[in-house]
Amino acid sequence: MEGEQPKPLLELRGISKSFGGVAALREVDFTLSEGEIHGLVGENGAGKSTLMKIIAGVHAAYQGRMLLAGQPVSFASARDARDAGIGMVHQELSLVPQLTVAENVFLGAQPLTRFGTVDWPRMRREAARELESLGIDADPAAILGTLPLGLQQLIELARVLFSGARIIILDEPTSALSPPEIERLFSLLRRLRESGRSIIFISHFLDDVLQISDSVTVFRNGRRIAHAAVPTIDKAWLIENMIGRDHGELADSYVNRVELRGRPETDVALEVEGLSLTGAFSDISFRLHSGEVLGIYGFMGSGQLELAKSLFGRRPAERGTLRLAGRPVRLSSTSRARRAGLAFVPESRRSMLFAQEPVYKNVSIAILDHIHRFMLRPARERTIARARIGDLGIRPPSAEIRLGALSGGNQQKVALAKWLTRQPLVLILSEPTRGMDVGAKEDVVRIIRKVRDEGIGVIVISTEPETVLSLADRILVMKKGAMTREFAAQSVGKDELLAAA
Ligand SMILES: Nc1ncnc2c1ncn2[C@@H]1O[C@H](COP(=O)(O)OP(=O)(O)O)[C@@H](O)[C@H]1O
Ligand SMILES: [Mg+2]
Repeated sequence: MEGEQPKPLLELRGISKSFGGVAALREVDFTLSEGEIHGLVGENGAGKSTLMKIIAGVHAAYQGRMLLAGQPVSFASARDARDAGIGMVHQELSLVPQLTVAENVFLGAQPLTRFGTVDWPRMRREAARELESLGIDADPAAILGTLPLGLQQLIELARVLFSGARIIILDEPTSALSPPEIERLFSLLRRLRESGRSIIFISHFLDDVLQISDSVTVFRNGRRIAHAAVPTIDKAWLIENMIGRDHGELADSYVNRVELRGRPETDVALEVEGLSLTGAFSDISFRLHSGEVLGIYGFMGSGQLELAKSLFGRRPAERGTLRLAGRPVRLSSTSRARRAGLAFVPESRRSMLFAQEPVYKNVSIAILDHIHRFMLRPARERTIARARIGDLGIRPPSAEIRLGALSGGNQQKVALAKWLTRQPLVLILSEPTRGMDVGAKEDVVRIIRKVRDEGIGVIVISTEPETVLSLADRILVMKKGAMTREFAAQSVGKDELLAAA
């Protein structure tokens, strides 16, 4: 970079951090300038969140030095960091779903009356004003947990943004946001930059990172690999530095235009006709063939997630019919759906796994009935699990490791392994690659293609255009609860998907 050097606001020098002897960060240098938006990218496990948690006072034990405005600082707690003007939006939501929107916006910093009690009217008023200035349409009195996930995430952002922090860390904030919500967030970030705040923006969406950042730092395997000003770099450069190996194939999942294969000449695995559920979707009809991947795309709240749940018997539809392999079925419960040959990997896959149990237990849980029937032993469970671990590229490749110790991407592979062990007729996946890095995404794409080629009908439901484009043979678009468009055996781009949704 030439020209005048912006003033460094935050400098980290030679930061190393280990967890139980395993290095998460090695001798990392990082500089955040005043009034910049600094992108941070790297595969899952590269150490991004760990460095951010050091800055935000969450991890107090580490090697190296941190300077804030030229002064050495060391934070003993998140509160210390907050007091020094550092705010972080964590990857996992840290809000309280049982409280109202207003209470969440002011979490831990409620305005008080002169009697020392919470000043409710003022809190509601200020929350309403702040949310409105962000263009967030949420009733301050609503219970947070009743709102859609994307909206909850914007409210979490609002909380940090309005805490007065001068350094704002956003750890993968856009994964639950729709394109208009992302645009709203970005215009807000630009306004904050104008007012002199510094922002660290972490995301797997490289287009987003390039669009919003002034400069980008790339992490790989606990090290800072590269840093460059945005006009001088592109997506290929980012991917190359992130994965440090030939990326011709990996770049696939980021392509903007694809050639769809279209409907195969196989039997119909699932036929849906006139399916309706009040407030969620209406008059949905489509056919899924065996051996095809059908993508269903739509913005958050278009009804596609509800449709998936309904197909799996979570929230049975009120009207319409379903046929599985030609036979009419009534999927009035999830156990019925499972017996009929449906498998469902939801977005919140962690809720369906057991973090404290070893990987092999998590894989064999879905086939426990078989295991009893055939008198399978733990040794057999391990054998089945090991085969799947190999197939799916689960890393580290151990059946014994505690599931909770795996990265999100690898936990997702375990969730897939669990269902695939049952050989379903139809596999429904909701947001199968959300929040994953390039490498893990590529693994999941490969697994889904393999499953398809074994003759399973696969439905991929997503709010991310890239996800359906990289996976689907055919794409249906949903908008406000209705099926609006089909793309089959043709070339299609992200712009067309966005236009149809
Ligand atoms: N609290 C923790 N305990 C043990 N290991 C951790 C902890 N947090 C992170 N790690 C490990 O440190 C490495 C870096 O993780 P993380 O900073 O979360 O990466 P990223 O955010 O880039 O995906 C990973 O190998 C991860 O498993
Ligand atoms: Mg992270």
